[in-house]
Amino acid sequence: MPIPERFLDELTERSDIVEVVGQYVRLTKKSGANLFGLCPFHSEKTPSFSVSPDKQIYHCFGCGKGGGVINFIMEIENLDFRDAVAFLARRANMPMPEEAEGEDSSRRGRLLELNRDAARFFYDRLVSSDGRAAQEYVAKRGISGAMVRNFGLGFAPNEWNALTDAMRKKGYTDRDLLDAGLMKPGKKGGGYDTFRNRLMFPVIDVRGSVIGFSGRILDDGEPKYLNSPETPVFSKSRNLFGLNLAKKTKRGYIILVEGNIDVVSLHQAGFDCAVASLGTSLTPEQARLLTRYTKEVILCYDSDAAGKKAAQRAIGILEKLDMKVRVLQVTGAKDPDEFIRRNGADAFANLIEGSAGQMEYRLAVLAEQYPPDTAEGKVDFFRAAASLLAAIPNAVEREVYAARAADIAGVKKEAVSDEVERLRRSKMRGAKKKENRDGTRPIPTARRGIRYDDPRSARAEEGLIRLLYLDPGIARGRELPEASAFSSELLGRFYSELLERIRSGERISLGVLAGRFTSEEMSHFTSLLEAPEDLANADRALEDYIAVITDRGAEEDEDLAKMAEKMRKTKSYGG
Ligand code: UTP
Ligand code: MN
Repeated sequence: MPIPERFLDELTERSDIVEVVGQYVRLTKKSGANLFGLCPFHSEKTPSFSVSPDKQIYHCFGCGKGGGVINFIMEIENLDFRDAVAFLARRANMPMPEEAEGEDSSRRGRLLELNRDAARFFYDRLVSSDGRAAQEYVAKRGISGAMVRNFGLGFAPNEWNALTDAMRKKGYTDRDLLDAGLMKPGKKGGGYDTFRNRLMFPVIDVRGSVIGFSGRILDDGEPKYLNSPETPVFSKSRNLFGLNLAKKTKRGYIILVEGNIDVVSLHQAGFDCAVASLGTSLTPEQARLLTRYTKEVILCYDSDAAGKKAAQRAIGILEKLDMKVRVLQVTGAKDPDEFIRRNGADAFANLIEGSAGQMEYRLAVLAEQYPPDTAEGKVDFFRAAASLLAAIPNAVEREVYAARAADIAGVKKEAVSDEVERLRRSKMRGAKKKENRDGTRPIPTARRGIRYDDPRSARAEEGLIRLLYLDPGIARGRELPEASAFSSELLGRFYSELLERIRSGERISLGVLAGRFTSEEMSHFTSLLEAPEDLANADRALEDYIAVITDRGAEEDEDLAKMAEKMRKTKSYGG
C-alpha cells in the first residue's frame, strides 16, 4: 500500500527541514537565504552543507548529497522510505495512515505478535518451578535476575510441543508457527518445537520488536546455539544482539563481542553498550546499523585465532564507514565474559582505557605472522608493515606508527619511514597515470552517472524545472512543452511529475517525489534546484528555457525533414 500523497504533503508541511536537520547538524546563517553546517554525510572542516528554508531542501556542495526532509531522514537514520515517513510522522505527532490493508505488513505484524508471546512464554517457564534446570544454569553463569529481566531471557522446556501447544491455545495457526521458525514440520503433519531444553535469548530490534531467538543448550550438547531461521521478520545479518539496549548508552562507543553471554555479562558489569553479531562475523549491514548509534566501535572478540581473524575483517568493514575502531584484547581469558568473571569490571575498564588503536593492533598481528626474531622474519615484517603504514593518509600518524614498527622489528625508524614514503610516491604515480589514462577527475556524487547528451537543452530543462518548482504559479496561462521534448530522460521524469501536479492544481511536495525517485536521483534534483535563479526575471527566463527546449524539438524535426528530402533525392537519382 503506497502512502497517500495527501499524508505526505501534510507531513512535509509539518516537518520543517531547518528544525529536523538542526537536530543533527549545527546550522548557522552566513549570508543569503541558506543556512550552512558541517555535512553529516562526509567528513569536512569547512561547512559545505546547505539547508534552504524557502525550498525546503538540503544540499551538500562537497559530496553532492541532497533532497527533502524525508531524504534527509532516510540518509541519516539509515531508513527506507516508509520507515523514514513513519519516523517523521512520530515526530510530527501524526498517526500513520492505516496499514492494516497491507497484506505484507499485517503478516509481519502477526509474526511479531507471535514472537512476543513466545518470548513471554519462555520467560514464564524460566521463572516458574519447572524452570529449575535453567535457573541453575543461569546462576552458574553468574547472570543476575536483573539481567534476566533486562534481556527477557527465557527457558524452552525439554518437551516436543510445550510452546506450540501454548501458542495454538492463543489462536496462532501452525502456519504462523512455521513461518516464525518456532515450529518444525513433523513427518506426519503437525510439528514440534524448534527450541527445546535451551536458555532462550530473544533478539529484539531497535524498535523494540522481538524478531527472533537464539537458544543456548544447557549442557555440552550440539549445536551449542540454535538461532531462528531467516523469516519475514528476522534476518541474522541485519541485526545485532543487545542493540535494543546498547543504542541508549551514554558511553559514546559500542563494544562488539562475539557471544550472547558476553553481551549479558558486560551489561551486568555496567558496560551497557555491548552488542554481538548473532554468530556471523560482522556484516556490512550490521556495521551500517551501528553507524546510526555511534562513531566508535571497540572490538572485543574471543582471544582465539578465529576471533582474531574476525576482528581483522570487522576492522576493514568499519573503516570503510569512517568509524573509529579500537581493538581490545582480553589477556588470560578466552572471552570478555570469562575476563570479567576473573578480574572484575574495573579490570575491564582498564583494558578499555588502554586498548590499542587499530594500527597498533594490526602491527601486533603482523608481528605474530612474521616473527621478527630472525633476519628473514624481520624483512617480511618490515615489508608488510611499510605497506600497511603507506595507506595512512595522515603524515603525523605515519611517523608515529613508523616508530612503533621500527621498534618491533628492531630497525632504525628512518629505515621504516623512508620505505613508507617511497611506497607512497610510487602509489601516487600509479594513481596519476590512471587519472591521465581515464582523462577523468572525480565528479561530485550528485552528477555521477548522469551525463547529458545535449547539455544546452539539458540546462534549459533544468531551468524550467527549477522555475516551476520555485514558483508553480508561473505556469498559469502558458503553453508548456511536453516531457517528451526533453533531451534528458531523468529530467523528463522530474518534469512530468511537476507538470502533473501543476495541471491538477496540487501542491508540489518533495515528500511525494522522495517516494518515486532513488536517493541519487533526488540528490541530482536538489543540486539543480540549488543553482541560482533570478526570480525577478522569471518570465523572461521561462520563455528562453521553453524556446531552447522546443527549438531542440524543432531542430530534430528539421533534421528529419532534411533526411526525408535527401532520401527522396537519392531515390530519384537511383531510380
Ligand atoms: P560462543 O561459543 O563464544 O558463545 O559463540 P557464548 O555466547 O560466548 O557462549 P559460552 O560463553 O561459550 O557459553 C559466539 C556466538 O556465536 C553464535 C552465538 O550467537 C554465540 O553467542 N553461535 C555459537 C551459534 O550461532 N551457533 C553455535 O553453535 C555456536
Ligand atoms: Mn564465549
